[in-house]
Amino acid sequence: VPLKSMNTLALPATAEYFCRVDTLDVLREALTWARDKNLKVTVLGGGSNVILADNIPGLVVAMAIPGIELDMQENDRHLVHVGAGENWHQLVLHTLSKGWFGLENLSLIPGLAGAAPIQNIGAYGVELSEHFHSLAAIHVDTGEQVILSAEDCQFAYRDSVFKHAVRDQYVITSLTLALSSQPILRLDYPALKQAIAQQNLSEVTPEVVSRVVCDIRRSKLPDPMDIPNVGSFFKNPVISSEQAEQLASNYPQLVTYPQSDGSVKLAAGWLVDQAGWKGVSRGPVGVHQQQALVLTNRGGTGQQLLELADEIIHSVQSKFAITLELEPRIYP
Ligand code: EPU
Repeated sequence: VPLKSMNTLALPATAEYFCRVDTLDVLREALTWARDKNLKVTVLGGGSNVILADNIPGLVVAMAIPGIELDMQENDRHLVHVGAGENWHQLVLHTLSKGWFGLENLSLIPGLAGAAPIQNIGAYGVELSEHFHSLAAIHVDTGEQVILSAEDCQFAYRDSVFKHAVRDQYVITSLTLALSSQPILRLDYPALKQAIAQQNLSEVTPEVVSRVVCDIRRSKLPDPMDIPNVGSFFKNPVISSEQAEQLASNYPQLVTYPQSDGSVKLAAGWLVDQAGWKGVSRGPVGVHQQQALVLTNRGGTGQQLLELADEIIHSVQSKFAITLELEPRIYP
Protein backbone atom coordinates (compact mmCIF):
# COMPACT_ATOMS: atom_id res chain seq x y z
CA VAL A 1 0.00 0.00 0.00
CA PRO A 2 1.57 3.37 -0.97
CA LEU A 3 2.02 5.78 1.95
CA LYS A 4 3.02 8.83 -0.08
CA SER A 5 -0.27 10.65 0.52
CA MET A 6 -0.21 9.67 4.21
CA ASN A 7 3.07 11.38 5.19
CA THR A 8 3.49 15.15 4.91
CA LEU A 9 7.02 14.80 3.46
CA ALA A 10 5.33 12.87 0.60
CA LEU A 11 8.03 10.20 0.81
CA PRO A 12 7.46 7.30 -1.56
CA ALA A 13 7.42 4.39 0.94
CA THR A 14 4.92 1.52 1.05
CA ALA A 15 3.33 -0.54 3.85
CA GLU A 16 3.49 -4.34 3.57
CA TYR A 17 0.00 -4.54 5.18
CA PHE A 18 -2.30 -1.63 5.98
CA CYS A 19 -5.42 -1.13 8.09
CA ARG A 20 -7.45 1.98 8.96
CA VAL A 21 -8.94 1.71 12.46
CA ASP A 22 -11.93 3.78 13.55
CA THR A 23 -13.07 1.81 16.62
CA LEU A 24 -11.42 0.03 19.55
CA ASP A 25 -12.80 -3.28 18.30
CA VAL A 26 -11.25 -2.89 14.85
CA LEU A 27 -7.96 -1.90 16.49
CA ARG A 28 -7.96 -4.98 18.75
CA GLU A 29 -8.82 -7.20 15.78
CA ALA A 30 -5.97 -5.72 13.71
CA LEU A 31 -3.50 -6.19 16.59
CA THR A 32 -4.56 -9.82 17.09
CA TRP A 33 -4.21 -10.47 13.36
CA ALA A 34 -0.70 -8.99 13.33
CA ARG A 35 0.28 -10.94 16.45
CA ASP A 36 -0.89 -14.24 14.90
CA LYS A 37 1.21 -13.54 11.82
CA ASN A 38 4.14 -12.32 13.91
CA LEU A 39 4.14 -8.93 12.18
CA LYS A 40 5.53 -5.70 13.54
CA VAL A 41 2.89 -3.00 14.03
CA THR A 42 3.56 0.64 13.11
CA VAL A 43 0.96 3.26 14.06
CA LEU A 44 0.51 6.17 11.68
CA GLY A 45 -1.34 9.34 12.70
CA GLY A 46 -1.26 12.39 10.44
CA GLY A 47 2.19 11.41 9.14
CA SER A 48 3.37 14.92 9.98
CA ASN A 49 6.32 13.97 12.17
CA VAL A 50 7.76 10.89 10.50
CA ILE A 51 10.52 10.24 8.01
CA LEU A 52 9.74 7.10 6.02
CA ALA A 53 13.32 6.17 5.18
CA ASP A 54 12.27 2.93 3.46
CA ASN A 55 9.28 0.63 2.93
CA ILE A 56 7.55 -0.38 6.17
CA PRO A 57 7.51 -4.12 6.88
CA GLY A 58 4.52 -5.57 8.78
CA LEU A 59 1.21 -3.88 9.50
CA VAL A 60 0.71 -0.11 9.34
CA VAL A 61 -2.30 0.94 11.42
CA ALA A 62 -3.75 4.31 10.42
CA MET A 63 -5.48 5.87 13.44
CA ALA A 64 -9.01 7.17 12.73
CA ILE A 65 -10.93 6.86 16.04
CA PRO A 66 -13.22 9.94 16.19
CA GLY A 67 -15.04 11.88 18.92
CA ILE A 68 -14.92 15.10 20.95
CA GLU A 69 -17.09 15.13 24.09
CA LEU A 70 -17.29 17.06 27.32
CA ASP A 71 -16.59 14.45 30.02
CA MET A 72 -16.95 16.51 33.13
CA GLN A 73 -17.33 20.12 34.20
CA GLU A 74 -16.31 21.45 37.59
CA ASN A 75 -16.55 25.24 37.93
CA ASP A 76 -14.26 26.64 35.18
CA ARG A 77 -12.53 23.34 34.54
CA HIS A 78 -13.71 21.27 31.58
CA LEU A 79 -12.44 17.76 30.93
CA VAL A 80 -12.73 17.04 27.23
CA HIS A 81 -12.46 13.51 25.83
CA VAL A 82 -10.91 13.32 22.35
CA GLY A 83 -10.57 10.37 19.99
CA ALA A 84 -6.97 9.78 18.84
CA GLY A 85 -8.01 10.13 15.20
CA GLU A 86 -9.29 13.71 15.50
CA ASN A 87 -7.36 16.34 13.55
CA TRP A 88 -5.46 18.48 16.09
CA HIS A 89 -6.15 21.89 14.60
CA GLN A 90 -9.86 21.13 14.04
CA LEU A 91 -9.96 20.12 17.72
CA VAL A 92 -8.39 23.44 18.75
CA LEU A 93 -10.98 25.37 16.72
CA HIS A 94 -13.82 23.24 18.11
CA THR A 95 -12.76 23.80 21.74
CA LEU A 96 -12.47 27.56 21.13
CA SER A 97 -15.96 27.66 19.60
CA LYS A 98 -17.30 25.93 22.73
CA GLY A 99 -15.54 28.42 25.03
CA TRP A 100 -13.12 25.81 26.37
CA PHE A 101 -9.80 27.66 26.42
CA GLY A 102 -6.15 26.68 26.69
CA LEU A 103 -5.18 25.22 23.32
CA GLU A 104 -5.07 28.53 21.38
CA ASN A 105 -1.24 28.78 21.31
CA LEU A 106 -1.19 25.29 19.81
CA SER A 107 -3.25 26.31 16.77
CA LEU A 108 -2.38 24.97 13.32
CA ILE A 109 -0.04 22.21 14.49
CA PRO A 110 -0.42 19.49 11.86
CA GLY A 111 -1.29 15.90 12.76
CA LEU A 112 -3.79 13.98 14.87
CA ALA A 113 -4.69 14.33 18.56
CA GLY A 114 -3.45 10.83 19.41
CA ALA A 115 0.12 11.67 18.43
CA ALA A 116 0.22 14.87 20.49
CA PRO A 117 1.34 13.24 23.78
CA ILE A 118 4.15 11.21 22.17
CA GLN A 119 6.33 14.26 21.70
CA ASN A 120 4.35 16.56 24.01
CA ILE A 121 3.62 19.03 21.21
CA GLY A 122 4.41 22.62 22.03
CA ALA A 123 4.43 26.03 20.40
CA TYR A 124 4.43 29.72 21.30
CA GLY A 125 5.11 29.17 24.98
CA VAL A 126 2.60 26.38 25.70
CA GLU A 127 3.00 22.59 25.77
CA LEU A 128 0.31 19.92 25.62
CA SER A 129 1.36 18.73 29.11
CA GLU A 130 -0.11 21.92 30.62
CA HIS A 131 -3.62 20.96 29.48
CA PHE A 132 -3.31 17.19 29.65
CA HIS A 133 -5.36 15.13 32.11
CA SER A 134 -4.94 11.51 30.98
CA LEU A 135 -4.98 9.18 28.01
CA ALA A 136 -6.24 5.73 27.12
CA ALA A 137 -4.07 3.29 25.21
CA ILE A 138 -4.16 -0.31 24.09
CA HIS A 139 -1.17 -2.57 24.64
CA VAL A 140 0.05 -3.88 21.27
CA ASP A 141 0.85 -7.41 22.55
CA THR A 142 -1.99 -8.03 25.02
CA GLY A 143 -4.81 -5.82 23.69
CA GLU A 144 -5.38 -4.58 27.24
CA GLN A 145 -6.38 -1.00 27.92
CA VAL A 146 -4.46 1.29 30.27
CA ILE A 147 -5.18 4.82 31.48
CA LEU A 148 -2.09 6.97 31.94
CA SER A 149 -1.97 10.22 33.94
CA ALA A 150 0.20 13.21 33.05
CA GLU A 151 2.74 11.99 35.57
CA ASP A 152 2.81 8.51 34.02
CA CYS A 153 3.54 10.10 30.64
CA GLN A 154 6.77 11.76 31.91
CA PHE A 155 6.39 14.79 29.68
CA ALA A 156 9.38 16.98 28.86
CA TYR A 157 10.38 19.20 25.94
CA ARG A 158 9.33 17.22 22.81
CA ASP A 159 9.51 14.08 24.94
CA SER A 160 7.47 11.50 26.86
CA VAL A 161 7.55 7.91 28.13
CA PHE A 162 6.35 6.84 24.65
CA LYS A 163 9.81 7.63 23.27
CA HIS A 164 11.58 5.64 26.00
CA ALA A 165 10.34 2.99 28.47
CA VAL A 166 7.17 2.05 26.54
CA ARG A 167 8.32 2.94 23.02
CA ASP A 168 6.13 1.16 20.42
CA GLN A 169 4.28 -0.80 23.13
CA TYR A 170 0.98 1.09 23.11
CA VAL A 171 -1.52 2.52 20.66
CA ILE A 172 -2.98 5.74 22.09
CA THR A 173 -6.74 5.68 21.48
CA SER A 174 -8.01 8.81 23.26
CA LEU A 175 -6.94 11.81 25.33
CA THR A 176 -8.66 13.71 28.10
CA LEU A 177 -7.71 17.38 28.11
CA ALA A 178 -8.20 19.84 30.96
CA LEU A 179 -9.45 23.16 29.56
CA SER A 180 -10.90 26.23 31.17
CA SER A 181 -13.93 28.42 30.48
CA GLN A 182 -11.87 31.26 32.00
CA PRO A 183 -9.34 32.52 29.41
CA ILE A 184 -5.75 32.47 30.66
CA LEU A 185 -3.70 34.20 27.99
CA ARG A 186 -0.12 33.05 27.50
CA LEU A 187 1.78 35.73 25.65
CA ASP A 188 5.30 35.16 26.99
CA TYR A 189 6.77 33.86 23.70
CA PRO A 190 8.62 36.87 22.21
CA ALA A 191 7.41 36.48 18.59
CA LEU A 192 3.80 36.09 19.76
CA LYS A 193 3.88 39.00 22.19
CA GLN A 194 5.30 41.21 19.42
CA ALA A 195 2.74 40.17 16.82
CA ILE A 196 -0.15 40.76 19.24
CA ALA A 197 1.19 44.19 20.25
CA GLN A 198 1.36 45.18 16.57
CA GLN A 199 -2.39 44.61 16.25
CA ASN A 200 -3.21 47.48 18.63
CA LEU A 201 -6.32 45.74 19.94
CA SER A 202 -8.35 47.00 22.89
CA GLU A 203 -9.06 43.42 23.94
CA VAL A 204 -7.02 40.27 23.42
CA THR A 205 -9.07 37.05 23.50
CA PRO A 206 -8.10 33.38 23.03
CA GLU A 207 -9.60 33.64 19.51
CA VAL A 208 -7.23 36.52 18.73
CA VAL A 209 -4.27 34.50 20.04
CA SER A 210 -5.30 31.56 17.84
CA ARG A 211 -5.60 33.77 14.76
CA VAL A 212 -2.23 35.46 15.36
CA VAL A 213 -0.50 32.10 15.96
CA CYS A 214 -2.01 30.87 12.66
CA ASP A 215 -0.71 34.00 10.89
CA ILE A 216 2.82 33.57 12.28
CA ARG A 217 2.90 29.88 11.40
CA ARG A 218 1.62 30.51 7.87
CA SER A 219 4.31 33.15 7.31
CA LYS A 220 7.18 30.89 8.41
CA LEU A 221 6.20 27.29 7.93
CA PRO A 222 5.42 25.98 4.47
CA ASP A 223 2.04 24.28 4.00
CA PRO A 224 2.84 20.57 3.45
CA MET A 225 0.17 20.54 0.71
CA ASP A 226 2.34 23.00 -1.28
CA ILE A 227 5.85 22.01 -0.18
CA PRO A 228 6.11 18.67 1.66
CA ASN A 229 7.75 19.03 5.13
CA VAL A 230 7.43 17.93 8.78
CA GLY A 231 7.87 21.30 10.50
CA SER A 232 11.00 21.48 12.65
CA PHE A 233 13.50 18.86 11.56
CA PHE A 234 15.75 19.30 14.63
CA LYS A 235 15.02 19.79 18.32
CA ASN A 236 16.12 23.03 19.95
CA PRO A 237 19.23 21.95 21.88
CA VAL A 238 19.29 22.44 25.65
CA ILE A 239 22.73 23.21 27.10
CA SER A 240 24.25 24.37 30.40
CA SER A 241 24.25 28.08 31.24
CA GLU A 242 28.08 28.00 31.28
CA GLN A 243 28.23 26.64 27.74
CA ALA A 244 25.60 29.17 26.64
CA GLU A 245 27.58 32.07 28.14
CA GLN A 246 30.72 30.94 26.38
CA LEU A 247 28.92 30.62 23.03
CA ALA A 248 27.27 34.02 23.50
CA SER A 249 30.67 35.64 24.04
CA ASN A 250 31.68 34.42 20.56
CA TYR A 251 28.24 35.01 19.03
CA PRO A 252 26.51 37.99 20.66
CA GLN A 253 23.38 37.44 18.50
CA LEU A 254 22.87 33.90 19.90
CA VAL A 255 19.15 33.24 20.54
CA THR A 256 18.67 31.79 24.05
CA TYR A 257 15.63 30.72 26.09
CA PRO A 258 16.60 30.29 29.77
CA GLN A 259 14.80 27.27 31.31
CA SER A 260 13.38 27.02 34.81
CA ASP A 261 16.04 24.44 35.84
CA GLY A 262 18.91 26.82 34.98
CA SER A 263 19.73 25.25 31.62
CA VAL A 264 19.42 27.20 28.36
CA LYS A 265 17.51 26.27 25.23
CA LEU A 266 18.98 27.49 21.93
CA ALA A 267 17.12 28.11 18.67
CA ALA A 268 18.31 25.33 16.35
CA GLY A 269 16.91 27.36 13.44
CA TRP A 270 19.30 30.20 14.28
CA LEU A 271 22.28 27.79 14.45
CA VAL A 272 21.40 26.17 11.10
CA ASP A 273 20.77 29.60 9.59
CA GLN A 274 24.14 30.96 10.84
CA ALA A 275 25.89 27.89 9.48
CA GLY A 276 24.72 29.09 6.08
CA TRP A 277 21.99 26.58 5.26
CA LYS A 278 18.90 28.73 4.71
CA GLY A 279 17.57 28.17 1.19
CA VAL A 280 20.25 25.59 0.30
CA SER A 281 19.15 22.58 -1.81
CA ARG A 282 20.64 19.19 -2.51
CA GLY A 283 18.72 18.06 -5.58
CA PRO A 284 15.06 17.55 -4.65
CA VAL A 285 15.57 18.13 -0.90
CA GLY A 286 16.46 21.42 0.75
CA VAL A 287 16.34 23.89 3.62
CA HIS A 288 13.35 26.24 3.66
CA GLN A 289 14.01 29.87 2.73
CA GLN A 290 11.88 31.35 5.59
CA GLN A 291 12.84 28.94 8.41
CA ALA A 292 16.16 27.11 8.44
CA LEU A 293 14.75 24.51 10.85
CA VAL A 294 12.41 23.16 8.17
CA LEU A 295 13.64 20.73 5.52
CA THR A 296 11.54 20.37 2.41
CA ASN A 297 11.08 17.60 -0.12
CA ARG A 298 10.19 18.08 -3.77
CA GLY A 299 10.22 14.53 -5.04
CA GLY A 300 13.20 13.09 -3.16
CA THR A 301 13.57 10.07 -0.86
CA GLY A 302 13.92 9.64 2.90
CA GLN A 303 17.57 8.70 2.38
CA GLN A 304 18.28 11.97 0.54
CA LEU A 305 16.67 13.96 3.37
CA LEU A 306 18.67 12.10 6.01
CA GLU A 307 21.90 12.73 4.07
CA LEU A 308 21.13 16.47 4.00
CA ALA A 309 20.29 16.38 7.73
CA ASP A 310 23.65 14.68 8.36
CA GLU A 311 25.53 17.39 6.46
CA ILE A 312 23.74 20.07 8.50
CA ILE A 313 24.47 18.31 11.81
CA HIS A 314 28.17 18.09 10.95
CA SER A 315 28.42 21.73 9.93
CA VAL A 316 26.61 22.99 13.07
CA GLN A 317 28.81 20.69 15.15
CA SER A 318 32.02 22.11 13.70
CA LYS A 319 30.88 25.75 13.96
CA PHE A 320 29.20 25.73 17.39
CA ALA A 321 30.26 22.41 19.01
CA ILE A 322 26.57 21.53 19.39
CA THR A 323 25.10 18.26 18.17
CA LEU A 324 21.57 18.69 16.81
CA GLU A 325 19.09 15.86 17.26
CA LEU A 326 16.34 14.97 14.81
CA GLU A 327 12.84 15.95 15.92
CA PRO A 328 10.72 13.61 13.72
CA ARG A 329 10.79 9.84 14.11
CA ILE A 330 12.49 7.72 11.44
CA TYR A 331 10.69 4.55 10.23
CA PRO A 332 11.14 1.67 9.75
N1 EPU B 1 15.69 31.84 13.63
C1 EPU B 1 16.64 32.30 12.76
N2 EPU B 1 16.72 31.76 11.51
C2 EPU B 1 15.87 30.79 11.10
C3 EPU B 1 14.89 30.32 11.99
C4 EPU B 1 14.82 30.85 13.26
O1 EPU B 1 17.43 33.17 13.09
O2 EPU B 1 15.99 30.34 9.96
C5 EPU B 1 15.57 32.45 14.96
C6 EPU B 1 14.32 33.34 15.02
O3 EPU B 1 14.58 34.64 14.61
C7 EPU B 1 13.96 33.29 16.49
C8 EPU B 1 14.42 31.91 16.92
O4 EPU B 1 15.34 31.46 15.94
O5 EPU B 1 14.67 34.24 17.21
C9 EPU B 1 13.27 30.94 17.09
O6 EPU B 1 12.55 30.80 15.88
P1 EPU B 1 10.98 30.48 15.87
O7 EPU B 1 10.25 31.42 16.76
O8 EPU B 1 10.56 30.41 14.46
O9 EPU B 1 10.85 29.08 16.56
P2 EPU B 1 11.77 27.76 16.56
O10 EPU B 1 12.55 27.72 17.83
O11 EPU B 1 12.52 27.68 15.30
C10 EPU B 1 10.09 26.25 17.84
C11 EPU B 1 9.43 24.92 17.64
C12 EPU B 1 8.31 25.03 16.62
C13 EPU B 1 7.29 26.01 17.17
C14 EPU B 1 7.98 27.36 17.41
C15 EPU B 1 7.09 28.33 18.12
C16 EPU B 1 11.08 23.20 18.07
C17 EPU B 1 12.02 22.19 17.48
N3 EPU B 1 10.42 23.94 17.20
O12 EPU B 1 10.67 26.62 16.60
O13 EPU B 1 7.71 23.75 16.51
O14 EPU B 1 6.22 26.17 16.29
O15 EPU B 1 9.13 27.19 18.28
O16 EPU B 1 6.95 27.92 19.45
O17 EPU B 1 10.93 23.27 19.28
C18 EPU B 1 7.72 21.70 15.25
O18 EPU B 1 8.00 21.13 16.29
O19 EPU B 1 7.58 21.08 14.16
C19 EPU B 1 7.57 23.16 15.25
C20 EPU B 1 7.31 23.85 14.14
